[in-house]
Amino acid sequence: MSHSHPLRRCVIGSCFVVATFWGIAAAADFPPVSELKPQAGLPDPLVMLSGQKVQSKEQWENKRRPELKQLFQHYMYGYLPPKPEEVKYEVRLLDEKFLDGKATLSEATISFLKPTLKHKLHVLLVEPKSKTPAPVFIGMNFCGNHALVDHPQVHIPESWIYKSCAGVENDQATEKGRGGQKDVWNVDLIVDRGYALASFYSGDIDPDTKEFTDGIEPAYWKSKTAEPGPDDTAAIAAWAWGYHRVVDFLIAERSKSIDKNRIAAVGHSRNGKTTLLAAAMDERIALAIPHQAGCGGTGPSRTSDTRAESVKRINAAFPHWFCSEFKKFGDHTELLPFDQNCLVALCAPRPVLFTNAEEDLWANPDGQFDVLQAASPVYEFLGVPGLSAKSRPELNQLVKSRLGYFIRPGKHQMTRDDWKVFLDFADQQMPGK
Ligand code: GCU
Repeated sequence: MSHSHPLRRCVIGSCFVVATFWGIAAAADFPPVSELKPQAGLPDPLVMLSGQKVQSKEQWENKRRPELKQLFQHYMYGYLPPKPEEVKYEVRLLDEKFLDGKATLSEATISFLKPTLKHKLHVLLVEPKSKTPAPVFIGMNFCGNHALVDHPQVHIPESWIYKSCAGVENDQATEKGRGGQKDVWNVDLIVDRGYALASFYSGDIDPDTKEFTDGIEPAYWKSKTAEPGPDDTAAIAAWAWGYHRVVDFLIAERSKSIDKNRIAAVGHSRNGKTTLLAAAMDERIALAIPHQAGCGGTGPSRTSDTRAESVKRINAAFPHWFCSEFKKFGDHTELLPFDQNCLVALCAPRPVLFTNAEEDLWANPDGQFDVLQAASPVYEFLGVPGLSAKSRPELNQLVKSRLGYFIRPGKHQMTRDDWKVFLDFADQQMPGK
């Protein structure tokens, strides 16, 4: 499948042929926001923009899924850049005695040659020593690869980094940050459970500042100015592209040690929003766990819960996460031609788990349950069970259906106990042969 935007890359004549062949509206045909039809509740993923009901699996696959992918990119995230034509992979670090010899730690650098980008993506990979290829979690991190493990040679980001990360001085990561996120990523636990972890720092793709000049995005914009056009790539789309490049790398370079059919994506909060988008846009991702992702990810855009983050507030605080079309929905979420249940539906029939914390009302744990419920009909339409629970489960009770839900006591963070839940869900929903 293509992860880019095929209709934009073709010449005018053939675009028309592609668009009409599939019966999908091209982005240029999408109405201006003010002309979209208001919908009070979460829109039905099985109804096309035209109002036509999806009647068959083929229609879902060939018409509605491509349409939804375009709609999300056009009105919300901006278009994901295409897969690079040429990249270079270099191993910059290899330690076969990691975790007392239980694991191999390596780090690869991905350079983008065509088109040429100055950005380099560093992928930290911790793999269990096992006879058969291991399932893997790809996770984007907040504080640099060096923060995940105690290891003197793991790459320290050169770009801007969050002040809240350990060891940061003047917006720069330092040696002092090594191992600072060990209890967030828990690689020992992941390895003990037979999984590998591949991780990268979001700032390798685009540091999370309001400006884009330091990210990969401008290289892909239609707008040739310093400002993005209305549906040009914004940060979450660029980060999701980063997940896809790690998938490329694992498949191309690690096919002996990593099971390409068991690639899961995980991420916390803004990185969880990215996780869900990455999985929705790339079927090579077999399972997604967007953890406490909330508004713009797993939380409904249409919400009346005033304790939860709204589209208006997220756009004001983080204008660079979404494309500028999305800003128009701040006071008019009813005009969105989709809601986040449709993004989950794009993952169908693959498993997706939403994990939450009781005190994290900003991420809208109740609304997230509604999102799963409103995605479930697509799973059933495709002949697999979706969400088994009829109401939000008790604390600490994992709903282990293909659409899974979990809420625990506590706050907005990613903990070792959360990882136990992620791994239990993955064991059940992504078993080996
Ligand atoms: C803020 C933001 C959320 C986001 C969170 C995070 O709270 O409002 O949308 O999920 O940061 O990334 O930790």
